[in-house]
Amino acid sequence: MNVRFARDNELDDINRLRKVVSDIHSAGIPEVFKAGPRNELWDLIYEIQKDPEKEIIVAEENGEICGYAILHHINKPENAFRYEQDYLDIDEFAVDSAHRRQGIASALVAFIREYARDKGFHRIELNMWEFNQSALAFYEAAGFKTYRRYMEMKV
Ligand SMILES: CC(C)(COP(=O)(O)OP(=O)(O)OC[C@H]1O[C@@H](n2cnc3c(N)ncnc32)[C@H](O)[C@@H]1OP(=O)(O)O)[C@@H](O)C(=O)NCCC(=O)NCCS
Repeated sequence: MNVRFARDNELDDINRLRKVVSDIHSAGIPEVFKAGPRNELWDLIYEIQKDPEKEIIVAEENGEICGYAILHHINKPENAFRYEQDYLDIDEFAVDSAHRRQGIASALVAFIREYARDKGFHRIELNMWEFNQSALAFYEAAGFKTYRRYMEMKV
């Protein structure tokens, strides 16, 4: 298995994995996430590939794209409350269901850490939805720690 940056001719394969993530979120929080196939979402991958602040990485096994991540360089300038924040955000992350529990997501994280170090980032960040407990179990196993919480009260 090989982890590397995505090629332009792999974007449709990546969209197939993005649909899995979209379905998980629309099933988990239907009041927030749109369901069903949406061209606007699939077309976004072409914008992401062109964006100089974003990178798409893939895990490839025997010629098949079996995992992907979208990375986003975030810079928030200093303001009255905070110092400048400069970090690498993982916008999207998934492994094909037929290839899970084989260390592919762990290999993606190892690649992302190496890339972040090379680029001089000191932090990698991601956010996730509380219903997605299997993703939480993976992220914690990979070494991520919760440092901030969003709370809500339904009224
Ligand atoms: C979360 C996800 C990326 C993990 O991918 P993976 O390739 O199966 O993960 P790995 O094989 O590298 O797992 C490494 C370790 O993480 C933990 N882990 C991974 N998946 C887990 C799960 N479903 N439940 C509990 N622990 C899990 C385990 O400790 C595992 O080690 P082990 O297999 O030796 O027990 C994958 O399940 C996925 O794509 N889920 C759907 C998409 C998604 O939710 N993305 C995140 C959106 S925020």
